[in-house]
Amino acid sequence: MSTLFSPFQLKSVTLRNRIGISPMCQYQASEGIAGDWHLMHYGARAAGGAGLIIVEAAAVAANGRITPHDLGLWADWQIEPLAQINRFLKAQGAVPGLQIGHAGRKASCARPWEGGAHLAADAGGWPLIAPSALPFGEALSKVPAEMTGQQICETQMAFAAAAGRARQAGVEWLEINAAHGYLAHSFYSPLSNRRTDGYGGSFDNRVRFLLETVKTVRQVWPEQLPLTVRISATDWADGGWTLEDSVELARRLKAAGVDLIDASAGGAVPDAAVPAPKPGFQVPFGERIRAEAGIATAAVGLIADPMLAEAIVSKGRADIVLIGRESLRDPHWPLHAAQTLGVRQSFGPPQYSRAW
Ligand SMILES: Cc1cc2nc3c(=O)[nH]c(=O)nc-3n(C[C@H](O)[C@H](O)[C@H](O)COP(=O)(O)O)c2cc1C
Repeated sequence: MSTLFSPFQLKSVTLRNRIGISPMCQYQASEGIAGDWHLMHYGARAAGGAGLIIVEAAAVAANGRITPHDLGLWADWQIEPLAQINRFLKAQGAVPGLQIGHAGRKASCARPWEGGAHLAADAGGWPLIAPSALPFGEALSKVPAEMTGQQICETQMAFAAAAGRARQAGVEWLEINAAHGYLAHSFYSPLSNRRTDGYGGSFDNRVRFLLETVKTVRQVWPEQLPLTVRISATDWADGGWTLEDSVELARRLKAAGVDLIDASAGGAVPDAAVPAPKPGFQVPFGERIRAEAGIATAAVGLIADPMLAEAIVSKGRADIVLIGRESLRDPHWPLHAAQTLGVRQSFGPPQYSRAW
């Protein structure tokens, strides 16, 4: 009896198994609009048997894109192309999820394979906003403007508006990206937030931006559908955000209406002391959050071995696992995992059934 291949229910949504595709930017959008690539890419992974597809970070505002090629949901005309993809994912038996986010001081970059550096204005770049006027570092050196109170409010409203559009596009599982040094993380990490108003300084003040954003989104996002948050559970840096902070944040997010914490790590500063990654290296973060904050969690990070994935969920170290790069190498990872674990196939496209 496999736990990995048992259903998982969160609010009114039931995943056919505990395997999700981790959000991964494709940088193939034009004006934020999803196209053929997204339909093919996400569609293949839904046909590959995943229970949940979390479509890559869609920017809630044009200035919140990591690159000019990011997906976006800041305008109504971006809804229908995403809806087409979601209809297809659902038809394959996967739950259509989406991550929404704002890249803050890590916005306005070239694509990773084009160097990933900040883009100058004459190369298609744009001005940055962040909690404080501190650049990320040498690699991303553009200095952001410290957000005004009005910009904070407008950005939170943009998250809510994007959530409403996501719902119109048929998204059933919404994730707010508050990890990896992007805007919400840069508010709660003391390494990137030097504000002296109600959004900086104490723990309470630094988590205020994210908690208010969640509450604003929850007013728009249906109560019966899962609202989840990806956090960086630690900054891996002296004087930075810690796992203890994450446990307390998770308690508060739960009280604000969040249903699951997706526990990633890092990204706040370039000189973090990241340990040499090994399989499942981030699992202990979500495990502790799950135990101490009493909230469902997703584990992510170098989970490629089906036996490891099975052990994580069967031992209650997380409720679901998210597969990132391994799913780029193998869109059929869930079907292969089922074979490895000796699970009799009851999912996947019937037209492929003779292959399994
Ligand atoms: C190409 C690529 C794009 C990514 N884009 C996102 C993203 O949009 N949002 C996010 O939260 N994480 C993003 N990530 C991080 C992944 O979701 C995942 O957390 C990370 O790759 C670790 O999992 P893995 O070891 O299974 O790949 C990205 C990773 C890759 C490789």
